[in-house]
Amino acid sequence: MSADFSNAKQFFTTLTKEGTLEFTIEPMSVAAPDEHEVVVQMEATPINPSDLGLLTAPAEMSTLRREDDGDALKLVADVSAQMQRVFGGRAGNKLPAGNEGAGTVVAAGSSDAAQALMGKTVSMAGGEMYATHRTMKAMEVMPLPDGAAAREGASLFVNPLTAIGMTNTMRMEGHSALVHTAAASNLGQMLAKLCLADDIPLVAIVRSAAQAKILTDIGLTHVVDSSAESFFNDLVDALVATGATIAFDAIGGGTLASTILVAMETAAGKRGEEFSVYGSTTHKQVYQYGRLDTGPTTLTGGYGLFWGVSGWLLTPHIQKIGMEKFMEMRMRVMKERNGIFASHYTKEISLADMIDIDTVKAYDAKATGTKFLVNPSL
Ligand SMILES: NC(=O)c1ccc[n+]([C@@H]2O[C@H](COP(=O)([O-])OP(=O)(O)OC[C@H]3O[C@@H](n4cnc5c(N)ncnc54)[C@H](OP(=O)(O)O)[C@@H]3O)[C@@H](O)[C@H]2O)c1
Repeated sequence: MSADFSNAKQFFTTLTKEGTLEFTIEPMSVAAPDEHEVVVQMEATPINPSDLGLLTAPAEMSTLRREDDGDALKLVADVSAQMQRVFGGRAGNKLPAGNEGAGTVVAAGSSDAAQALMGKTVSMAGGEMYATHRTMKAMEVMPLPDGAAAREGASLFVNPLTAIGMTNTMRMEGHSALVHTAAASNLGQMLAKLCLADDIPLVAIVRSAAQAKILTDIGLTHVVDSSAESFFNDLVDALVATGATIAFDAIGGGTLASTILVAMETAAGKRGEEFSVYGSTTHKQVYQYGRLDTGPTTLTGGYGLFWGVSGWLLTPHIQKIGMEKFMEMRMRVMKERNGIFASHYTKEISLADMIDIDTVKAYDAKATGTKFLVNPSL
């Protein structure tokens, strides 16, 4: 029996030229797959902070409102003049969203590779996942083992590959231990388990005692709480113990990157590095890989001249390491999908829920342990 696509729908986000942000759910047409393609019925796709960059980041959230344009309901928010400038490049374009997800192959092209996937549950990345259906090249999806649920395959790209990418970068750039901030995040918990499995010393920075407990329960030793009075000294002690000289910072705004560099410099002195007027000669690096705090990054100095603060993104990292290493990473993630790289979701929502005001506010909070999973088949 051939698949029925008559009720296919897709989520869109549009920054209008008039200065509003709109979320809509609209009918979509699904073409028959070509020889090497499959059509996946989407069943599980997470809302990650990286998706929110396309969704809520431009919006003044207090102005969220529902509007009825006659055909369908839409969610609308005002966009400040500053955000209109920042996001001006997308003005007037109706954009699909959703970086990664999983579902069932319901139609397949004539090639053997495509036909072999018919009826399989597959995991994939590549955008446009907030939709009832997504057409993919057969070679771009990863089948899950028989019997595995779609939610097991929903988040096997963005966070797991980033966690591995951080440890790759650490090794490639000659460091032997890592610092991580906002470390009780979904990704942070994966990184904690990965570092424990691979014997990599990790200094995890969190902002509450409850978050610290999440990580010590996983088994981490060096967890420091930035809300504690002893934070700076605790951080230096952890850096002395681990020798970490590279940090991955998800927060971005504020002074934390600078504090980490000062603490690394202090730790270098305590570890007995030779004194120089230019500071410790070991290169100290902070990579900003997230902007949970969108304010300016403040660098105070006080850590010599051998340091760097720059951005880090998964996609260029994958391009840098090449296809063979990338495939190894994917295989490891698939094998450990219910262990090291398991994601936990607080709530499963439908496509329609994605434009419900209270639900949008809840998934925009990016709070510890509150990841939302969209099931477009609901
Ligand atoms: N560059 C890349 O290629 C790449 C790839 C994947 C992920 N990322 C980034 O990785 C980060 C984590 O993603 P995730 O899916 O694991 O997130 P998540 O599970 O939603 O967790 C977000 C965490 O950040 C904390 N947080 C939020 N705002 C904060 C702030 N202003 N200061 C300090 N902590 C804050 C939250 O703690 P509270 O509960 O205390 O708010 C929570 O623990 C995100 O920034 C994401 O953009 C980047």
